[in-house]
Order: sequence, then structure tokens, then C-alpha cells
Amino acid sequence: MAVVPNDARLEIGHVHTTGAIEAHGVTKSYGDGENVTQVLKGIDLVIERGEMLAIMGPSGSGKSTLLGCLSGLDTVTSGRVIINGTDITNMSENALASVRNRNIGFVFQTFNLIGTLTAQENVELPILLNGKSKVDPSKRARELLDLVGLSHRRKHRPTQMSGGEQQRVAVARALANDPEVIFGDEPTGNLDSKNGEAVMRLLTDLKLQTGKTLILVTHDPNIAARCDRTVNMQDGNLTSEGVTEDHAPRRA
Ligand SMILES: Nc1ncnc2c1ncn2[C@@H]1O[C@H](COP(=O)(O)OP(=O)(O)OP(=O)(O)O)[C@@H](O)[C@H]1O
Ligand SMILES: [Mg+2]
Repeated sequence: MAVVPNDARLEIGHVHTTGAIEAHGVTKSYGDGENVTQVLKGIDLVIERGEMLAIMGPSGSGKSTLLGCLSGLDTVTSGRVIINGTDITNMSENALASVRNRNIGFVFQTFNLIGTLTAQENVELPILLNGKSKVDPSKRARELLDLVGLSHRRKHRPTQMSGGEQQRVAVARALANDPEVIFGDEPTGNLDSKNGEAVMRLLTDLKLQTGKTLILVTHDPNIAARCDRTVNMQDGNLTSEGVTEDHAPRRA
């Protein structure tokens, strides 16, 4: 895929449709010298706005690493990542933190809530960290906890909640700043089927009702089947992709 410089993209404006997330020739290596391991080997991927994408592949193939790079949680070794039209590749950590905070929500397999904070405080935190937010953090967190069915758990800390409840708090936290894109790294991987279904229903409803872009790493073919498109990773490369039957094609 040709790499379009960011200023060229601006110049051609609406002629070029910008994806929600774009990766151009992304590589990621760990270590140096003889110990270098190349984990991502040149990923080209455009995820359209409003798309629900599944990333599948064997353990160790690089899925979490790719998610980290696409979301700006991690830096790339070479190549470029564009989030909502902003090239994040060479951004300072401060600028990047602010792009992440406003554009990206992240739901992890292990929930990753802050243990010393209540559910309410965990959801408020990203709003407090967002210097430009005009919403009332307390009100917004209450609304989001209502949305995920946890108004009765507002004052509970993570250890006082079940895994399913913690993950629903994590979904509420991911939505705190109303981000365009939500990433999930096996968000149902530690949940039983009932709780996993509740979290998946929340995420799919969000996509259907608010047009959010969802990018999910999953080992579950049933979850992939609910996505618009699936890409497969194998040893640091994207090997194949498929559009799910019954899902409208996203590209001309
Ligand atoms: N910080 C690191 N330093 C060195 N190697 C790493 C680091 N993080 C990941 N790796 C290596 O990169 C490869 C890909 O890891 P990654 O976590 O992206 O795999 P994955 O596809 O998400 O696997 P799983 O399905 O088990 O979660 C693995 O071989 C892993 O050992
Ligand atoms: Mg992983």
C-alpha cells in the first residue's frame, strides 16, 4: 500500500477518505543486536470509521503487539500509524497521551481497573485527565455505569466485584471521553459465556447505536462472525482477511 504523507492527505482533503485507524508498513522489534526479535513484520491495515474488525491468529503471532501499536499505547519500530487523521508516529509522549485519551478506549482481557479506586472513580479518571472535557465527570460516570447496568456497584472497588462486573466497568471507562475507536484485547477471554455475552452485547450495541469503530482481538470464531471483517495474523504478518457474510461491504 502506498504511504500517503500526512500533509498530502490534508491537501487532498475530502478526496481521500481517512480511516479511523491506519497502519502503513508497521514493524515492531524487541531487543537489539543478535537478540532482536521482529514481532510485526510490515503491517498495512486501514480500519474504516464505524467498522467492527476482528483480529485472529495463534498465540504469539503479534496480535496484542499490533493492538498496542494501533492504539498508540506502544511505539512502532518503523512505519506509520494514523489515528483519526493524526499521524502519531513521532509524537511526544505528552501529545500522544492526549490523542489516546480523547480518541481511544481500551478494554483489556484482565480488566486493568485501578484497585484503590471505586467503579465510579475508575470511570471518572479518564475525564479528569482530559483537559478539554466539558462534561461533569461525576454525572458522566453515573450515566455510563447505568448504561452497563452497574448503578448498584458505583461505590465498589474492583476486588468487591465479579469479573463480569469489572469488565463492564472497564467498558464504561473506555467510553468515558466518548472516543471514536474502542480496542478490545480478548475482552471476553476471562469471562464465562454469560458474562462474555453481556460484554459483547454492550460492545455490539455501541457500534450499532453510536457508530463507534471497534477493533477486537479474539480467539472466539463466534465473536469474529459478529464483526464486519476478520484479519488473521501469522508470525507477525497479516495473512488473510475476510468480510463476514451478511455484513455490508465497507469498501467500494
Ligand atoms: N516486551 C517484549 N519483549 C520481547 N518480546 C516480546 C515483548 N512483548 C511481546 N513479545 C513477543 O512478541 C510476540 C508476540 O506477542 P503478542 O503478545 O503480541 O502475541 P499475541 O498474538 O497477542 O499472543 P496471545 O494470543 O497469546 O495473547 C511473542 O513472541 C512475544 O514473546
Ligand atoms: Mg495477546
